Amino acid sequence: MVGMFDSGVGGLSVWREVVALLPGQNIMYVSDNAYCPYGSRPAEEVIERTKKISEYLIRQSCSLIVVACNTATAAAIDALRAAFPVPFVGMEPAVKPAALHSRTGVVGILATRGTFKGRLYQETLHRFASQIRVVEQTGDGLVELVEQGLADSPQALRLLRQYIAPMIEAGADHLVLGCTHYPFLIPAIQKITGPRVAILNPAPAVAKRVQFLLNEAHSSHMSTVSAHYKFFASGAVATMNMMLQDMGLAAKAKQLNLFS
Ligand code: DGL
Repeated sequence: MVGMFDSGVGGLSVWREVVALLPGQNIMYVSDNAYCPYGSRPAEEVIERTKKISEYLIRQSCSLIVVACNTATAAAIDALRAAFPVPFVGMEPAVKPAALHSRTGVVGILATRGTFKGRLYQETLHRFASQIRVVEQTGDGLVELVEQGLADSPQALRLLRQYIAPMIEAGADHLVLGCTHYPFLIPAIQKITGPRVAILNPAPAVAKRVQFLLNEAHSSHMSTVSAHYKFFASGAVATMNMMLQDMGLAAKAKQLNLFS
């Protein structure tokens, strides 16, 4: 069983890539939406929450955990790897491919405050983006809109326009999505950028990493019939259930008490 978690429904953008690549893999997903957003919380609190979720997933026999949240990866992946004996796969903003393929030499990055502050992001920038101009923008308010099922709303479009316009004005030809909630905003983003800006989502690369690690451990419990998908949320389940339905799944999310 693979475990996966996020501060909310954002990690479902990673879940769908893992399912596309490993269709028989059993997956258990936890949304910690009672504590969403993580982006404005201190790292210590994110570490505490993600340890609690990881403990739960390991108790449910998960042998690999995907931290399907850039903010949680930035704050907690080192602590999780030190605390638990299973492999953790985290999110990394796709700065490298953006820097490699940019023709204008200008790349926009949209992420949460927590992700921008993280060591991982700073190192990635240093390693891969020294030759290009990076226009950073924190996506305040976007996670909350996706959590409310308002990814394609006028409010989302208004905020995105405000965040993306300076990138376009600076000549960006690539936009890196540094938060797993943002792929659900791609239709709205494309209304603003049109086809001239490439939008980069690291989730397919994360799915490949999961495949590699499962093969290496010979632990992909592929079912020949159909995989079991389980979904849990520490808060309300309404948006997640709506999104599961949109993705064509009959599964319903259950509430999970992760407070004690
Ligand atoms: N999906 C999370 C991420 O990738 C959302 C962050 C948050 O909860 O602030 O960063």
